[in-house]
Amino acid sequence: MSKKMRWGILGTGMIANVFARALEHAQRGCKQAVGSRSGPKAAAFATTHQIPRAYGSTEALLADPEVDAVYVSTPHPVHRSGVLAAAAAGKHVLCEKPMGVTPGECEEMIEAARRHGVVLLEAFMYRVHPQTLRLQEILREGRIGTVRTIRSSFTYGMGDAYNVRTDLSLRGGGLYDVGCYCINFSRMVAGQEPDRIAASWWLGPKTGVDENLAAVLGFPSGPLAHFDVGIRCAGTSFAEIVGSSGRIHIPNPWKPDARRASFDVVAGGKTETVVIENGGDIFSLEADHLAAVAAGEAKPLIPAENAVGNAVVMDTIWRQMHG
Ligand SMILES: NC(=O)c1ccc[n+]([C@@H]2O[C@H](COP(=O)([O-])OP(=O)(O)OC[C@H]3O[C@@H](n4cnc5c(N)ncnc54)[C@H](OP(=O)(O)O)[C@@H]3O)[C@@H](O)[C@H]2O)c1
Repeated sequence: MSKKMRWGILGTGMIANVFARALEHAQRGCKQAVGSRSGPKAAAFATTHQIPRAYGSTEALLADPEVDAVYVSTPHPVHRSGVLAAAAAGKHVLCEKPMGVTPGECEEMIEAARRHGVVLLEAFMYRVHPQTLRLQEILREGRIGTVRTIRSSFTYGMGDAYNVRTDLSLRGGGLYDVGCYCINFSRMVAGQEPDRIAASWWLGPKTGVDENLAAVLGFPSGPLAHFDVGIRCAGTSFAEIVGSSGRIHIPNPWKPDARRASFDVVAGGKTETVVIENGGDIFSLEADHLAAVAAGEAKPLIPAENAVGNAVVMDTIWRQMHG
């Protein structure tokens, strides 16, 4: 592809800033415009990131014919309206995780993308990093035998200031924010959808959202996955896969380092450390991946349809927690 994909960034929050910086290192993408609910916020964001165009509404951003793709970085339940509008405007879409908060929302977005002939991808950036691709190869090679158990964790500590992550009306809490990674990982490794979903949680007395949660997923062919997530914890990040004849420990599964990522494969009485040098920045990689898919040069590493299975698990646990 000779022409770079011109991105419009929808939302001006934390991850929008990360993505805007990542576009500077993308091989096949560039910053074209930003859209916000507020004109001044869009203008300030554009100044910070040297973005040519700033718009004070989603509609104005989507009306720009020189925006090829939209990065939807609004809070979880606001993704749907942004994705549907972007698809209807003929823009390719990279939607932040979790793409939809219910399976039905995901299906609606997928159908809209299909109808309007645009690419829709869920921004699980760890899935496009070579660390995850190498891990999947090793599993396919059967190096640890049959997968029995998948363990993972993703926790961090939040302050008391308002944040979308502690807003119950925005499906705040650890489950949707970071549990989505553990669920996505577990389903990827198991290669199927769980048929049993159980969870236990602690709801913050002030916020009402899951501030600490653990869950178990049972897969039809036998593997069990268990994970914990939390938003009032010291930071934790790891995944481990235990097979019938070996195990794999991944110390940094969700945000593998751009320069040097590694994980250990313990099998046959030996430990091999698999090292990925210069794998790349996860956010630049996902922008480039969408450009390659839109150009017909690559198949999605994680098709949008995959979001439905994640939403089934999250929505099931959400209904257990909140009725
Ligand atoms: N892949 C990753 O590593 C990663 C990391 C962090 C977050 N995320 C995902 O990205 C999404 C945004 O997270 P964030 O941390 O960037 O959140 P944030 O800092 O609160 O930013 C969200 C932005 O969305 C816009 N917005 C539109 N409707 C809104 C509403 N009703 N309430 C609040 N903001 C609204 C706001 O921009 P305007 O005011 O300009 O309209 C706001 O700045 C979430 O779905 C999250 O899961 C992904």
